[in-house]
Amino acid sequence: MKNNTYCIANWKMCLNKRESINYIENFLKFDLSINSAQIIICPSFPSLDSISSIKQNEIEFGTQNISEYDKGAYTGEVSVSMAEELNCQWSIVGHSERRKFFGDSNDIVANKMNQIYNSSLNPILCIGETLDERQSGLTFNILEKQIDNAFSKVDFSINKNVLIAYEPVWAIGTGISADIEIIEENMNFIKNFIKKFDGKNCNICLLYGGSVDKDNALEIYSLKEVSGFLIGTSSLNPETFYSIYKQF
Ligand code: PGA
Repeated sequence: MKNNTYCIANWKMCLNKRESINYIENFLKFDLSINSAQIIICPSFPSLDSISSIKQNEIEFGTQNISEYDKGAYTGEVSVSMAEELNCQWSIVGHSERRKFFGDSNDIVANKMNQIYNSSLNPILCIGETLDERQSGLTFNILEKQIDNAFSKVDFSINKNVLIAYEPVWAIGTGISADIEIIEENMNFIKNFIKKFDGKNCNICLLYGGSVDKDNALEIYSLKEVSGFLIGTSSLNPETFYSIYKQF
């Protein structure tokens, strides 16, 4: 077991409130003290209040997205202070589905990171290249750009735990994770690139995401730079999610 390990569920828009409550009630029946991996659940906004108020110490909660604005006339948005009120400690930012379907540019991601930095939340920053970008040999450029932009507006005097999830877009939701060599190569690249933030007050851990399941988790976790996972599909069932968590 590594020093800090994270097992994060991204439920996307898959579970409604009733299903989310059932899930947590079932999940809490498992022994969550078998290891010290931090479990973070990121439900949809309407479920957050009910499930984050179910008494438990083993689980932390996060949002899947957050507004780039503080407050005001921004129809449909949810601010950092609203998330804080619902017991959230984390927020996913820059997920590829936000980038692809909702126009979250690197600039918007920078604003969202800034909001998160100025709140009690900690960021789970998602980065990753598309298949086209990979085939054009642009992976490293894309990762550099996504990281640089995401941190471009943050105040580094604020102490944060930052999770960077490397999620190759072409591996998300496909059922086939990236090859271990590719994950290793890109993780090493990211690890080196973020050395420039050393001494800047942020404690960065790297995660992998993209079709993680109970059969590939252990091998990916064995990579030196991988401190855990951001899991979509395999987090939607409490048994399956637990079967990954218990391998740490
Ligand atoms: P997946 O999703 O596990 O279904 O590939 C991961 C993610 O989108 O974060």
